[in-house]
Amino acid sequence: MIEVKNIVKIFPNTPVPVLKGINLKIEDGDFISLVGKSGSGKSTLLYIISTLDHPSGGEVFYDTKNLNTFSREEIYRLRNHNIGFVFQFHYLLTELTAIENILLPARKANEVEKRRSFAMEILKTVGLESKEHRYPGELSGGEQQRLAIARALVMDPKYIFADEPTGNLDSANGKIIMDLFKKVNQEKGTTIIYVTHDNDFAALAKKKVVLLDGKLV
Ligand SMILES: Nc1ncnc2c1ncn2[C@@H]1O[C@H](COP(=O)(O)OP(=O)(O)OP(=O)(O)O)[C@@H](O)[C@H]1O
Ligand SMILES: [Mg+2]
Repeated sequence: MIEVKNIVKIFPNTPVPVLKGINLKIEDGDFISLVGKSGSGKSTLLYIISTLDHPSGGEVFYDTKNLNTFSREEIYRLRNHNIGFVFQFHYLLTELTAIENILLPARKANEVEKRRSFAMEILKTVGLESKEHRYPGELSGGEQQRLAIARALVMDPKYIFADEPTGNLDSANGKIIMDLFKKVNQEKGTTIIYVTHDNDFAALAKKKVVLLDGKLV
């Protein structure tokens, strides 16, 4: 469970806070969409919840433990083992093949051999089993995004945070990504929170939260 309490975010040189006291409870197994206008602070909030950025005020709790009290190693472990990240621009490494990209989080955790067959399984799930040895530059945009999701899944994380995972895709590829999320949520109970601009995709979530004027409504 993740609990977000009274999160405020103020950027230097920006007089108005972007986030003005956000409260949110994310239960295990939740499937949440986060929507709001461009510039409303969706990415900012997602980064704070997912440990990638610090709030100016307020607290984030993972299973009742305040993130502020996590040591560097604990944060590192949380990110590496329990969190999968999917970004709008996928940040695949161009010099690594598909399977090597998927195994990157496993490499960081010294679990490459342990995870290899699972990685192949995921590659199949995302429909890329025949493209194991391709480089990202040899894949379509939709395939690259599926690969990024496969990478986010390889450590079998408890949480997945996705910032506009379908933002650069056509509706068919977007739907494939959303179906994948749904499947992982249903079959593994993975908690998923994703940002989207697409109303249809937002409606697929079990819960929808809207950012407006720095608050959740
Ligand atoms: N590093 C930064 N320094 C100063 N201002 C920032 C910084 N990052 C974001 N902002 C500002 O904070 C506000 C929220 O940005 P954020 O990226 O969270 O919006 P968003 O809802 O994700 O928008 P979009 O839908 O366009 O991705 C914007 O006004 C942005 O200009
Ligand atoms: Mg954004």
